[in-house]
Amino acid sequence: MHTQTSPTPDTAADRVPDALELLHNEHKELEALFKLYEFGRDRFLPGRKQELAEILCRALKTHAIMEEEIFYPAIEDRIADALSLVAEARVEQNVLKVLIADIETGMPGSIEYDADVKVLGEYVRHHIADEERSLFTKVREAGFDLSVLGKQLLARKTELINLPDKEFADADVIFGGGLAG
Ligand SMILES: [Fe+2]
Repeated sequence: MHTQTSPTPDTAADRVPDALELLHNEHKELEALFKLYEFGRDRFLPGRKQELAEILCRALKTHAIMEEEIFYPAIEDRIADALSLVAEARVEQNVLKVLIADIETGMPGSIEYDADVKVLGEYVRHHIADEERSLFTKVREAGFDLSVLGKQLLARKTELINLPDKEFADADVIFGGGLAG
């Protein structure tokens, strides 16, 4: 008889980023993707641009779903001004929805396609600045258990990034469902 080996203890628990670190890292990843697209604007072939734009849109949607499902509900009742900041984020999401739909149905290589990605990037940079300069500071000062919140966000992210496109579209309650309703 042999002793069954226990699963590896969760020794890496301390390495799980807290909620703000995780969201900050995502912001950096999004910025890097937009920078890469800007770099490739006059260099990449249309197929490469499309591939990159699809990665970008999915990363952005994943980020928005995580914030909308987990982060905003956890903080919005406990942070002064959070309601207005979250409301602004939701208004911006409506604009992003239009741009993302344009990109997903657009013609890679066209001027319009590049313009949609550029404007999407400008909105995302604005979103990042709003959150990091204001909201994140208030959340950090408010004494949340950011470690637990980080684990919740990471668990949801893991689910989302592993979903096939069709199932991801079903899970995407923010940008999914089409523009026409
Ligand atoms: Fe964000």
